[in-house]
Amino acid sequence: MKILFLDQSGKLGGAELCLTDLAKPYRNHCLVGLFADGTFRELLEQQQIPVQVLTTEPILVKKDSGILQSLGSMSSLVPLIIKVTQIARDYELIYANTQKALVIGAFVSLFSHRPLVYHLHDILSSDHFSVTNRRIAVTLANRFASLVLTNSQATQAAFIAGGGRSELTQVVYNGFEPKQYKTRATDSHQIRQQLGLDGQFIVGHFSRLSPWKGQHILLEALAQCPPEVSAILVGDALFGEQKYVQHLHQQVTELKIKERVQFLGFRSDIVPLMKACDLIAHTSTAPEPFGRVVVEAMLCERPIVAVAAGGVIELIEAEKTGWLFSPSDSQQLAQIITTCRNQPERAAIMAQQAQIQASQRFNLNTVNQQIAQLLDRVIFTQSLN
Ligand code: UDP
Ligand code: GLC
Repeated sequence: MKILFLDQSGKLGGAELCLTDLAKPYRNHCLVGLFADGTFRELLEQQQIPVQVLTTEPILVKKDSGILQSLGSMSSLVPLIIKVTQIARDYELIYANTQKALVIGAFVSLFSHRPLVYHLHDILSSDHFSVTNRRIAVTLANRFASLVLTNSQATQAAFIAGGGRSELTQVVYNGFEPKQYKTRATDSHQIRQQLGLDGQFIVGHFSRLSPWKGQHILLEALAQCPPEVSAILVGDALFGEQKYVQHLHQQVTELKIKERVQFLGFRSDIVPLMKACDLIAHTSTAPEPFGRVVVEAMLCERPIVAVAAGGVIELIEAEKTGWLFSPSDSQQLAQIITTCRNQPERAAIMAQQAQIQASQRFNLNTVNQQIAQLLDRVIFTQSLN
């Protein structure tokens, strides 16, 4: 099947990593069209997935913008819509992976008579989107999409609660290749030594630095843990959250935990880094739509503690495959970190269970087959009309 994937981002967020895995089986006859240049393009090129940066002009609709700003920016999209419509004529299906890709994809679908699939990676709630932007997304999806893939039941529920047509939706979790999460124990041992953290109990946080990812909650918890507990924060501010980065550094100084916290920036060697940790913490303050890092921790067979909200509660069985804590409750998080440190055998059994379960439930081959069947159905239905 010839697919034109569209994504607004040049950067490597979870939605983009997910798309990279989904596009691989189509690499001989697909194109990924991006609305910004950056490391995402580089990754697609490395993976030999055809990619084209369709514009480098910023699309100025912000997640929290109002109706006037949204409408104003629509007119500036016309050249992009024309360009993408021409490209779409060589493809059978348009696959929009982000909100702005949905906006462009909807018009392109209308003009090129190609069916539109929308992969929704966000919980459409007031935590991240203005009323206007939510309304635009739901209206366009209802009117133009033949299928809305949601990355969790939580994402699906928010779409429907916002007026989205439930019959369009299908939950498809992110898929992973379990073998990629196997690495030699010596690699992780080396990492611990390089970090100078041998002998410490290491809590890892793997997320872009952003207020809602809640790195500050982990720092608060760390200050309530014994001094043998350290943290590594892996990830960078991808979308200009420099104030938050400053805030985190200031918090580290104020809490007097400088010796116990390392900021490692964006890394591509996630697997050995995760394996070097004794516990992985997921601390989002707003409901996480899916949470790739949670599944990655499970696949690395590391104990996981995560926030009981959003899609995460679909990933973890409390006390069996991981620990759950209430959003922003740093005291509860500190207690769980201490429990995990004091009960290594229990933690290892939970991590083992999680690894087995995650390898089955979030297997990339199965997910890709599921998506292929759904897309075939879209094309078939289109051919009947
Ligand atoms: N990640 C990465 N390098 C980093 C930090 C994060 O490759 O330094 C990856 C991480 O392994 C995960 C993705 O970025 O696959 C983040 O996806 P997630 O769904 O957890 O959150 P998002 O940022 O998409 O909201
Ligand atoms: C988005 C969500 C994240 C999810 C990812 C992949 O970036 O914020 O929770 O894991 O998409 O679906």
